Amino acid sequence: MMSSQRMLLPLLFLILPNLLPLVQSLTSCLNNGNYTSNSTFKANLDAVLSSLSTNVDSNGFYNASLGQNPDRVNAIVLCRGDIQLDTCRGCLQNATAELITSCPNQKQAIDWQEGCLLRYSNETFVGTLATGPTWYLWNAQNATSPDQFKQDLRTLLDNLRGQAAYGGSLRKVAAGNTTGPDFQTIFGLVQCTPDLSADNCSSCLIDAALEIPNCCDGKRGGRVLKPSCTLRFENYPFYNGTRLQELARQSEPPVLSPPGPVVDDISSPESLQFAFGTIRDATNDFSDNNKLGQGGFGTVYKGQLPNAQEIAVKRLSRNSGQGDLEFKTEVLLLAKLQHRNLVRLLGFSLQGEEKVLVYEFVQNASLDLFIFDPIKKSYLDWERRYKIIGGIARGILYLHEDSRLRIIHRDLKASNVLLDGDMNPKIADFGMARLFGHDETQGNTSRIVGTYGYMAPEYAMHGQFSVKSDVFSFGVLVLEIISGQKNNCFRNGEDVEDLLSYAWTNWREGTAANVVDPFLRSGSGSMQEMLRCLHIGLLCVQENASDRPTMASVVLMLSSFSLTLGVPSEPAFYAPSSYDSDVSLLQENNSRNYEHNSTQSNRSSKNDASISEFHPQ
Ligand SMILES: *[C@@H]1O[C@H](CO)[C@@H](O)[C@H](O)[C@H]1NC(C)=O
Ligand SMILES: *[C@@H]1O[C@H](CO)[C@@H](O)[C@H](O)[C@H]1NC(C)=O
Ligand SMILES: *[C@@H]1O[C@H](CO)[C@@H](O)[C@H](O)[C@H]1NC(C)=O
Ligand SMILES: *[C@@H]1O[C@H](CO)[C@@H](O)[C@H](O)[C@H]1NC(C)=O
Ligand SMILES: *[C@@H]1O[C@H](CO)[C@@H](O)[C@H](O)[C@H]1NC(C)=O
Ligand SMILES: *[C@@H]1O[C@H](CO)[C@@H](O)[C@H](O)[C@H]1NC(C)=O
Ligand SMILES: *[C@@H]1O[C@H](CO)[C@@H](O)[C@H](O)[C@H]1NC(C)=O
Ligand SMILES: *[C@@H]1O[C@H](CO)[C@@H](O)[C@H](O)[C@H]1NC(C)=O
Ligand SMILES: *[C@@H]1O[C@H](CO)[C@@H](O)[C@H](O)[C@H]1NC(C)=O
Ligand SMILES: *[C@@H]1O[C@H](CO)[C@@H](O)[C@H](O)[C@H]1NC(C)=O
Ligand SMILES: *[C@@H]1O[C@H](CO)[C@@H](O)[C@H](O)[C@H]1NC(C)=O
Ligand SMILES: *[C@@H]1O[C@H](CO)[C@@H](O)[C@H](O)[C@H]1NC(C)=O
Repeated sequence: MMSSQRMLLPLLFLILPNLLPLVQSLTSCLNNGNYTSNSTFKANLDAVLSSLSTNVDSNGFYNASLGQNPDRVNAIVLCRGDIQLDTCRGCLQNATAELITSCPNQKQAIDWQEGCLLRYSNETFVGTLATGPTWYLWNAQNATSPDQFKQDLRTLLDNLRGQAAYGGSLRKVAAGNTTGPDFQTIFGLVQCTPDLSADNCSSCLIDAALEIPNCCDGKRGGRVLKPSCTLRFENYPFYNGTRLQELARQSEPPVLSPPGPVVDDISSPESLQFAFGTIRDATNDFSDNNKLGQGGFGTVYKGQLPNAQEIAVKRLSRNSGQGDLEFKTEVLLLAKLQHRNLVRLLGFSLQGEEKVLVYEFVQNASLDLFIFDPIKKSYLDWERRYKIIGGIARGILYLHEDSRLRIIHRDLKASNVLLDGDMNPKIADFGMARLFGHDETQGNTSRIVGTYGYMAPEYAMHGQFSVKSDVFSFGVLVLEIISGQKNNCFRNGEDVEDLLSYAWTNWREGTAANVVDPFLRSGSGSMQEMLRCLHIGLLCVQENASDRPTMASVVLMLSSFSLTLGVPSEPAFYAPSSYDSDVSLLQENNSRNYEHNSTQSNRSSKNDASISEFHPQ
């Protein structure tokens, strides 16, 4: 409905001189049929419109519906997140008057004012995403050092997007500032109608940010106005930060996963501490029957708390090298990371040298047990796998950019992706480096923690890690999900090859469909989508870390099919030179995480010059 109207409507452009507030309103009367002045629709519309400004809540949101189809009227209003309620009401009255005048008989219309938006339609649209029509406004002044400015702006908007999307069901707004080039401050505010899901809000704001080059490239200020979300940045403070903070305190805390025993207060480490006896009882004294798996940092047990809540308990296998206080502080920070695609850390327990971590229990075990299993892979058709890829990407993006901490996972792999009861992915084992007291967001390390087949070459060989080494592991994971085969024991008929080279060679030769899991090829999934994901996977496993996209770009590429993808260069060669595939398979089974000293590394990278000219597809 709304989005299809986009084609019919030319995008409208306005240039505003610096600092001039938006006095005029912007109205789109959408061509979705007309009503007559004596109709029931008109009576319903008048009643709905007159109710909006009185009923709008202190968060600036209200939706209403009245009447029966075909005369039913649905409406949504949203005031900018920082304005006072009386101003919000006045704004809505202005918007109502504007719509009645400008769209006198239209069944569907939207009006944006400086401080609010009002939308109505005969169609049901509450809870659904509408990214068009779009209006732009911009400040005619150019920013100084535009390239740096754009980069700083992007970082700011990415951060705000995460905050707004996970703001809860009452408010989805975030504002903040950052220091740009030449000590200019950049102020930004992003907002979605709170009826949207977090994902829909995020994708609306991604779309809005993508439009900045169309209007506001290198400008000091700009706005992108969409029916479901708005974005604005300026080089002066245009919002009331005090009011935003005041409202954020009143509004509900984000609820992202089912509450555990300790979620109500995670302000102090003590609130996250479980008595050791409770954990011992919950896991039947860490009995083998309760064992879920063995990871690089310890053994994981299933447990059940006295209140019947199921938990997963990781008993750390070695001394963390940290004092109890540092350990507690890190647990507290990690417990605050909450995202639907991360396994939730509920708390910890200590006794003497013994340290355990308590996580939410995730129903359906790990991804590797599905995609690599000839029978169980049938649970994961392409639609599911595509959602899993998107979820993993958003989880990593949150770790890299959207959370308050910047976390490099360092050991992303299929067995570290757990699936919940609805088969949504949740990333496990993040933040372990912090708990072991040597986390940086990039650097050189002599202690490499990772898994064969997933480690970026610069990390495996030189201990250099960064967000881009996680991107590499993500790319391997994507190729595994599409092909249904493990990177480190990939078979092409009789031949043992390297999945990355095989995927790249086929992609280059226009035979990429060969890489796709035969189970998926025979299914109803979109081959175009699979090949696009494969392409994205190949961009992530490029040998040169700086050629790999960031996770923010990956999320963008996955959500926007109109975005043209670059041409991947040859991936790092993967088969470990001194192992044949059966040996590495054995290793994988015996010890899932591989930890070694980089100076003893026996992996190699093929140093052939990459082919720079070819014609894909
Ligand atoms: C909305 O109005 C248009 C034009 O009259 C009509 O085609 C459409 O079916 C209506 N939608 C609903 C849900 O009644
Ligand atoms: C609806 O009314 C507008 C003028 O307000 C007119 O331009 C348009 O053609 C009308 N559409 C239909 C389907 O009658
Ligand atoms: C509304 O008015 C039109 C003429 O303007 C008339 O043809 C129609 O019958 C009226 N409809 C109703 C429901 O009164
Ligand atoms: C707003 O929309 C929601 C979801 O459609 C609905 O449950 C609720 O009743 C609506 N509120 C009003 C006042 O109509
Ligand atoms: C409503 O419109 C009037 C006239 O244009 C304007 O003076 C006033 O500031 C507007 N009110 C709000 C809250 O936007
Ligand atoms: C919006 O979110 C819901 C629930 O998360 C999802 O089912 C739906 O497909 C999304 N809609 C769009 C247009 O993205
Ligand atoms: C802004 O920069 C563009 C090109 O970079 C230039 O054409 C334009 O005149 C500049 N505008 C101002 C107000 O300086
Ligand atoms: C920028 O944001 C910080 C909080 O992140 C705040 O303390 C500071 O006052 C803001 N600066 C301005 C100029 O508003
Ligand atoms: C900003 O919000 C605070 C708190 O609601 C309020 O006291 C103050 O008057 C507002 N400032 C402006 C300029 O509106
Ligand atoms: C996933 O977990 C749910 C809830 O425990 C269960 O109903 C479902 O059968 C599981 N699915 C698979 C494929 O194991
Ligand atoms: C890591 O080592 C490389 C080469 O030895 C060096 O160029 C780079 O600056 C180092 N990075 C950090 C963060 O220390
Ligand atoms: C790594 O191995 C080399 C050679 O065996 C040794 O000299 C070095 O101390 C080791 N480094 C660490 C951090 O264990």
